[in-house]
Amino acid sequence: MRVLSGIQPSGKLHIGNYFGAMRQHLQLQAENDCFYFIADYHALTGNPDPEKLAQNIIDVALDYLALGLDPEKTVFWRQSDVPEITELTWIFSCITPMGLLQRCTSYKDKIAQGLSANHGLFAYPVLQAADILAFHSNLVPVGADQKQHIEVTRDIAGYFNNAYGEILTLPEAHIVESVAVVPGIDGRKMSKSYGNTIEIFESENSMKKKVMRIVTDSTPVEEPKNPEKCNVFAMLKLVAPDDELKQWEDKYRKGGTGYGDVKKRLAELLVEYFQPYRAKREELQNNLDYVNEVLEKGAERAEKIAKQTFDEVRKAVGL
Ligand code: ADP
Ligand code: TRP
Repeated sequence: MRVLSGIQPSGKLHIGNYFGAMRQHLQLQAENDCFYFIADYHALTGNPDPEKLAQNIIDVALDYLALGLDPEKTVFWRQSDVPEITELTWIFSCITPMGLLQRCTSYKDKIAQGLSANHGLFAYPVLQAADILAFHSNLVPVGADQKQHIEVTRDIAGYFNNAYGEILTLPEAHIVESVAVVPGIDGRKMSKSYGNTIEIFESENSMKKKVMRIVTDSTPVEEPKNPEKCNVFAMLKLVAPDDELKQWEDKYRKGGTGYGDVKKRLAELLVEYFQPYRAKREELQNNLDYVNEVLEKGAERAEKIAKQTFDEVRKAVGL
């Protein structure tokens, strides 16, 4: 099965990215033909500072490689190194109805957050469709917020195939429901753009401090609490062993346990979870030539496939 996904280098990657998407990406490597890329053209829609963007691209690469992306097996590259993708985007733009993009909630959300309404941001899902369709991807592992973009991709593929013949493969989204939306420390969806994240590789101290700041309700210590409505418990579910989670659940329902105790344990578990990958990340950080080489080789492998699709698409539309 061909699996493809991308992550924007729009800030430091966080545990929502990890449990919602990256962990699935890494697990799927064992039995699939995997394609993962750093969506730098998508990140450009937010008009980032150039130096920060360049640094974020390297950070995403370091995070993935440290966490276990195997570049021998998986194709891993920078989106902007494969120019056929933006060329395909134009061809797909010409068959994409305005209404399809106007319905996209992520555009509306970003405008509501104060991002400038540029054309790239509006056309963002068409670029994403080109990413996916260029590789005849079958499965796209993402968090729940991306579901609509995969539907738009399927629509665009359908319009294209109807007009020009069965060339493109319709992908399926792969969303793990139990981690589809990881809450941030303020209780909204954890997101780089909300400043409410716990970064995968932030220092232990800062990780602990952030956990202690997670928003909870004001139920007094002695009273019973509802684990299903608690942001701390939602994060505990990501890292606690099943038997321990069950014990915490009982403690919540019984009363007599304060949120501070749960937070302390959550911080320990989070630090432990990512500890084994820290040394690997440091080693890679000291070997950036290797990291750049991985991305360049990945781009070469990706471009070969994207070019085949692009040539077919060009021919089909009469170019
Ligand atoms: P962000 O919102 O932090 O900018 P991205 O849009 O770059 O994150 O998302 C990268 C991947 O991580 C996507 O597949 C997205 O669905 C997933 N993801 C992001 N935030 C979360 C979250 N809070 N919970 C689950 N998955 C998430
Ligand atoms: N839009 C995705 C996000 O914000 C990133 C992305 C770009 C992507 N192209 C993709 C995800 C193709 C899956 C497939 O997370």
